Amino acid sequence: MPGIVVVGAQWGDEGKGKAVDTLGDRVDYTVRYSGGNNAGHTLVVNGEKYALHLLPSGILNDSIPVIGNGVVVDLDVLFEEIDILGARGVDTTKLLVSANAHIIASYHQLIDRVTERFLGKRKIGTTGRGVGPAYSDKVNRLGIRVQDLFDESILRQKVSAALEQKNQLLLKIYNRAAISADEVSDRLLSHAERLRPMVANTSRVLNDALDKGLVVLFEGAQAHHLDVDHGTYPYVTSSNPIAAGACTGAGVGPRRIDRAIGIMKAYTTRVGEGPFPTELLDADGEALRSSGDEFGTTTGRPRRCGWFDALVVEEACAVNGFTDTFLTKLDVLTGWEKIPVCVAYDINGERTTQLPMTQTDFHHAVPVYEYLDGWTEDITTARSFAELPHNTQAYVRRLEELIGVRISGIGVGPDREQVIVINDLL
Ligand code: GDP
Ligand code: IMO
Ligand code: MG
Repeated sequence: MPGIVVVGAQWGDEGKGKAVDTLGDRVDYTVRYSGGNNAGHTLVVNGEKYALHLLPSGILNDSIPVIGNGVVVDLDVLFEEIDILGARGVDTTKLLVSANAHIIASYHQLIDRVTERFLGKRKIGTTGRGVGPAYSDKVNRLGIRVQDLFDESILRQKVSAALEQKNQLLLKIYNRAAISADEVSDRLLSHAERLRPMVANTSRVLNDALDKGLVVLFEGAQAHHLDVDHGTYPYVTSSNPIAAGACTGAGVGPRRIDRAIGIMKAYTTRVGEGPFPTELLDADGEALRSSGDEFGTTTGRPRRCGWFDALVVEEACAVNGFTDTFLTKLDVLTGWEKIPVCVAYDINGERTTQLPMTQTDFHHAVPVYEYLDGWTEDITTARSFAELPHNTQAYVRRLEELIGVRISGIGVGPDREQVIVINDLL
């Protein structure tokens, strides 16, 4: 079972980091294939908390961490993260970075922030990390790649070219000072020597590893419904977090992906703007936020909270072809007498059990709930499905029925050990 991809099935923060960590030392390579340091993957190992934004979660195991070509890399963040982990005794020396990965430079962050301000009420609620503008430059063929750092003259030319239009925009539209191409280039070049030994043709490395039968785990960031093609556009990120994104973002063919695992929270959260039919704007939402500790790992923003939406996850299961799902944070639901689960939408008087085709309909969707019986027993020490209370088991089974894909693992707490394995994920 060599190629496995882990994908968020909702709007992010489902617990992908922990799910990846659970697969542990049996993985040979862990690869980030999309997004940048807009991600925040929290892992708790022996009571110690780690928050990773750019490095693959597999860095806390023995696997070789890889930053694929589809990732946008902020070098300041990369080395800060490496230093923080290094100071905590984590070995980061095996890290590989694709020569084709694009760079997030300081101007991308600035443009991200001023654009959001300019959009006002129509803002996306981005993480402000420069991710969208870096991908725009990539598609616009104005991007700076990791390999450009090793040819100073080329780098300087490319940075100047990238800034030509942007400086006009900053000066004339946004009323900001122009950015110096030399300063940006100098800053990037200051990282070159430290970066050089990590840089590799990662696509070939991964294909060779797969040829040898080694286990390669593709770690999704963001989620299906934040995907620029399949998510709730325009309230999305600027890359392809879906399972198929692992092929373009890591450079492997579709036949290499043997298993696709969807990670889903036992309820739903979202950070930033955009439609969210089951969102709770009342005390119940507040209660979920506080019991689930739903505050962004990256920006600290309170996450919007709501009940489990089966239509949202079912769509992700269908489009990603999930072979398995992993249900996280089930422990957070302990204590509710009844737990609503969204099983359909009412859209202008018509009922649907599938996600609507258009943004307009999605904005008008009113959730139809089924009320499942809750439980009060502490489930955080359960390590097998049989140990779960009857109502908890019934909740899991009902979700499985609604989404149409088997639930192969359950998270019952933040720690690495707090997992129930139903079907081995490897
Ligand atoms: P990611 O972005 O998908 O990796 O998820 P985040 O790390 O942003 O958010 C998930 C949060 O839930 C983190 O703080 C995890 O430590 C925590 N978490 C993950 N799985 C579980 C679980 O099963 N139960 C509880 N209580 N917390 C969990
Ligand atoms: P992980 O990997 C949750 C959201 C932002 C915003 C939108 C666009 O931890 O699940 P961007 O900065 O990417 O241009 O912002 O996407 N977003 C996330 N929400 N978890 C994430 O990552 C996210 N990464 C981006 O809040 O709504
Ligand atoms: Mg997160």
